[in-house]
Amino acid sequence: MYNRRLQMIDVLSGKRVILGVCGSIAAYKVAELARNLTLAGALVDVILTEAAERFVGTATFQAVTGRPVLTDMWSLPEDGVVGHVSLGVDADIVVIAPATANTIARLAAGISDDLLTTTVLVTQAPILCAPAMNPNMYEAAVTQENIATLQRRGFTILEPDVGRMAEPMVGKGRLPEVATIEGELRALLGQHNGPLRGRKLVVTAGGTHEPIDPVRFVGNRSSGLMGYALAATARDLGATVTLITGPTALTPPSAVALVRVETALEMRDAVHAACQDADILVMNAAVADYRPADVVEQKMKKSDAGLLLQLVPNPDILGELAQRRDLFKVGFAAETQDLVENATAKLTRKGLTMIVANDATTSIGQAEIQVTLLDADGTGTPLSRQPKQQAAAAIIAAIVERYLAFNQDR
Ligand SMILES: Cc1cc2nc3c(=O)[nH]c(=O)nc-3n(C[C@H](O)[C@H](O)[C@H](O)COP(=O)(O)O)c2cc1C
Repeated sequence: MYNRRLQMIDVLSGKRVILGVCGSIAAYKVAELARNLTLAGALVDVILTEAAERFVGTATFQAVTGRPVLTDMWSLPEDGVVGHVSLGVDADIVVIAPATANTIARLAAGISDDLLTTTVLVTQAPILCAPAMNPNMYEAAVTQENIATLQRRGFTILEPDVGRMAEPMVGKGRLPEVATIEGELRALLGQHNGPLRGRKLVVTAGGTHEPIDPVRFVGNRSSGLMGYALAATARDLGATVTLITGPTALTPPSAVALVRVETALEMRDAVHAACQDADILVMNAAVADYRPADVVEQKMKKSDAGLLLQLVPNPDILGELAQRRDLFKVGFAAETQDLVENATAKLTRKGLTMIVANDATTSIGQAEIQVTLLDADGTGTPLSRQPKQQAAAAIIAAIVERYLAFNQDR
């Protein structure tokens, strides 16, 4: 029997997002943001400033959101649903991207002479602002003062990227990547009303590399996909996330604190440091059980005599934290035989609240996973085989449920 209740939907589903687009060359980039948010289930109302309309038309945004694009507060759709204040009142979040120096200045001054500034003034929803402009405009004292004013008033301001601008110039002023803006938006929504807001969650991901010599290592097939998806999901639910990752080929989720490590010993130090003030630890990384006893300083030469590697055990990171009764600990057990028995033994030995058991032969390095959630009281909840992003949502939902009870008991 698979547990259907733990099949989660995206946290953006049904959320009302206002996307304010200003008159910057970067305006074309946010059509993709509007599309991604819509595909995730959000109701995206795009407001284009008059200047934005000179850069991009309404048709693209209308097509990707399936909703009318708003440009003028004097000619809003007449169905009464969208009024010059109701947009801002009903919003779950407002994102201004790209935000021009001009709009930032007008917002700082409280001007509300168009639909975007009026909506921002009226809303009580969190506001995310992504400035994009010429580096000199961005660094100008007045722009910096205006940004500081907005920050003081509770706006979340994304720092522009450094790089090549449309004009032949390199500097700080580029609109951050769409994935970064989306991640920050999800984090802000979660921090506003997610079940993990105010909680610090540490998640480990990927496998470790245990060096043999300067160019070789002992490793495993872990891709990091599961841990990265867990980190992104916990962030979406409001947690302050530290993602400690072994080497992977993945782009890390934005709006999480990233700690890159290579070896099990580095992973151990990073976990201990991050867990000092953490509430929840999700130990998903495939940490090598052994490491070469000695790391050879120079690249080893091939020899007909073969090679015998002596391995020594790595520390048991979760086991070392067994005495931390205040820390809600979740382990992962990847087994190739006697899955439930081995995972249950690990759960008891390491003092965990929950362990996620999975068959290593069909999960490690794969896009999909079938897991069984095992609780300390012996309850087992098998989930269906599904993409790792969906499994992450179900696992984090189970963690939230158990964490709230764990926290109440203390
Ligand atoms: C080709 C061109 C590119 C521009 N790019 C930017 C930009 O990236 N950032 C910015 O702050 N202003 C930029 N501007 C200036 C704004 O479009 C101008 O200040 C406008 O009044 C902004 O109006 P809005 O804030 O209502 O969208 C650009 C102007 C032109 C002509």
